[in-house]
Amino acid sequence: MRFLKKLWHKQSEEEKNMHEKLNIGIILGSTREGRVSPLVGEWVKTIADQRGDAHYEIVDIKDYQLPLLGEGDAPGIAKWNGKLAELDGFVFIVQEYNHSLAASLKNALDLAREAWNNKAAGIVSYGSTGGARAAEHLRGIMGELMIADVRTHPTLSLFHDFTGQEFTPQDVHLETVNLMLDQVNAWGSALKPLRK
Ligand SMILES: Cc1cc2nc3c(=O)[nH]c(=O)nc-3n(C[C@H](O)[C@H](O)[C@H](O)COP(=O)(O)O)c2cc1C
Repeated sequence: MRFLKKLWHKQSEEEKNMHEKLNIGIILGSTREGRVSPLVGEWVKTIADQRGDAHYEIVDIKDYQLPLLGEGDAPGIAKWNGKLAELDGFVFIVQEYNHSLAASLKNALDLAREAWNNKAAGIVSYGSTGGARAAEHLRGIMGELMIADVRTHPTLSLFHDFTGQEFTPQDVHLETVNLMLDQVNAWGSALKPLRK
């Protein structure tokens, strides 16, 4: 009887854990003066918050003042790892620089290891061809960091979704952003047992 009670308790705890809302970080990849990534990140967060299915927060690499890997042990590195450790999944806001991702994002990826493992991620990218080349490079890196990257990938065009420095996304992206978030939440929950 005691054994059954224990088993029931364990099962209900596991069920509760599976249904707890995930913490998803919306990571701004670029840090340059005049960047548009905060506009894109806020747009994704507004869509995400309307869903009510997870805790979404903007995580701005710029706030951590990260040194280049191997060039000193700034306090930002521990803070960065601490923030990532709190998160169950990510949405990377990716901009295309010279057919790849921004150096700021690559460096931030290199400055953590375990904190990335067994988590899910989606990509929202932008560039002249929707940032597709940068996003594909990021997918290769995510494999090495054991981040499960989902299939659906909203791609924003510098020609059709921006007007000068203003961000004017087309309505068509709303559905893809939501589909991507469905997948990040599903995989982020499924991977929970591996994060224990
Ligand atoms: C150094 C540099 C290289 C760039 N190279 C590309 C490129 O190869 N392909 C592309 O589509 N856009 C390229 N762009 C345009 C950027 O995608 C665009 O400026 C975007 O707004 C950058 O993101 P950010 O404003 O968040 O920094 C480049 C921009 C910079 C600053």
